Amino acid sequence: MSIFITGGAGFIGSNFVLDWLEQCNGTVINLDKLTYAGNLDNLMSAKNNKQHIFVKGDIADSALLCKLFTEYRPRAVINFAAESHVDRSILDPKIFIQTNIVGTFQLLQSVQAYWNNLEKMAKDHFRFLHVSTDEVYGALVADDPAFQETDSYKPNSPYSASKAASDHLVRAYHHTYGLPVLTSNCSNNYGPYQFPEKLIPLVINHALTGKPLPIYGNGLQIRDWLYVKDHCSAIRRVLERGKPGETYNVGGYNEKTNLEVVRTLCTILDELRPRADEKSYQAQIVYVNDRPGHDRRYAINATKIKNELGWEPTETFDSGIRKTVEWYLANSNWVSNTTNDHYQHWLEKQYS
Ligand code: NAD
Ligand code: TYD
Repeated sequence: MSIFITGGAGFIGSNFVLDWLEQCNGTVINLDKLTYAGNLDNLMSAKNNKQHIFVKGDIADSALLCKLFTEYRPRAVINFAAESHVDRSILDPKIFIQTNIVGTFQLLQSVQAYWNNLEKMAKDHFRFLHVSTDEVYGALVADDPAFQETDSYKPNSPYSASKAASDHLVRAYHHTYGLPVLTSNCSNNYGPYQFPEKLIPLVINHALTGKPLPIYGNGLQIRDWLYVKDHCSAIRRVLERGKPGETYNVGGYNEKTNLEVVRTLCTILDELRPRADEKSYQAQIVYVNDRPGHDRRYAINATKIKNELGWEPTETFDSGIRKTVEWYLANSNWVSNTTNDHYQHWLEKQYS
């Protein structure tokens, strides 16, 4: 039986599709609007795989969703599609409201209409999995305990507020209509195919192209980093074993300050691709204005997914970050194709 995923040409979605095709049976229908963040190059290795069906489209397009659900009869829908970058949400929040809130609502409407008409057994087995973020919980300070599923939502950025709203809609469709939903709230991901606007790929790209490595504020903000393949395995586990109506936190137990992350990247690059002048890439670090409303710390308590579903990350930060740098070094064409005019325009806007 097939699964239907949205946003599968983005960073996490494309990693998920590639892993799924490698490890699981059944067709994947992949609906993606191909915004600036969607990139079919990510899926090049699946180009001739008949188990992968790509459709360009919007999660808010009910007629298209109805047609695709009727044609492919998926046993599950996994929603990765979103606007995902906090800085963009600060500069221009409107599309975040449209895609993350209105789009998720439209998708839920379409899924519910499809699910309502399934036969009893298919209806019982069907799942809608909503991929969300730990940022919905707000910010922690120094010794606060890590986020738990029972914590209340306190989103601070337009991005996290729009994701929080979508999580609430998903929850409401379970509570009100009985739709068998699952939600995962994950910490910061890193790995192959991440658009170089996010910290880790941006720093690698800027280092190699001789640009400044921008640290917002003092660089002491903390994020809990998870290698993207571990996130994909967590989503598969939640899909197969999660209890409808439940939410699951997913994290890597890798709390690092931004400064630590950037210095680690510089050290690995110094070793693998030393600068011509033999100085460390750390010489390119610059401190820039802080992000407005910058969340101080995120940390995930992932004991529920471990105890109830038996999932744990396999990658350490040291192994994952090295693999990531190696991937970007080996895929400089992917990076240069991605960092086109639109991207240059974004960087100019960001720092103007
Ligand atoms: P991304 O920005 O790399 O990819 C998003 C994808 O969604 C793109 O391919 C884009 O074209 C597509 N898309 C956007 N609007 C669409 C629409 N209206 N209809 C159909 N497709 C649309 O994002 P990502 O980092 O891969 O994140 C995927 C999901 O995981 C998001 O929901 C995000 O909130 C969540 N998440 C991300 C992280 C992270 O660290 N990146 C962490 C936790 C959760
Ligand atoms: P980011 O990758 O944008 O993810 P998020 O905002 O969702 O956590 O940023 C990770 C951290 O790195 C965040 O604290 C902001 C910081 N940051 C910088 O210091 N410089 C940068 O150029 C970027 C993009 C992020």
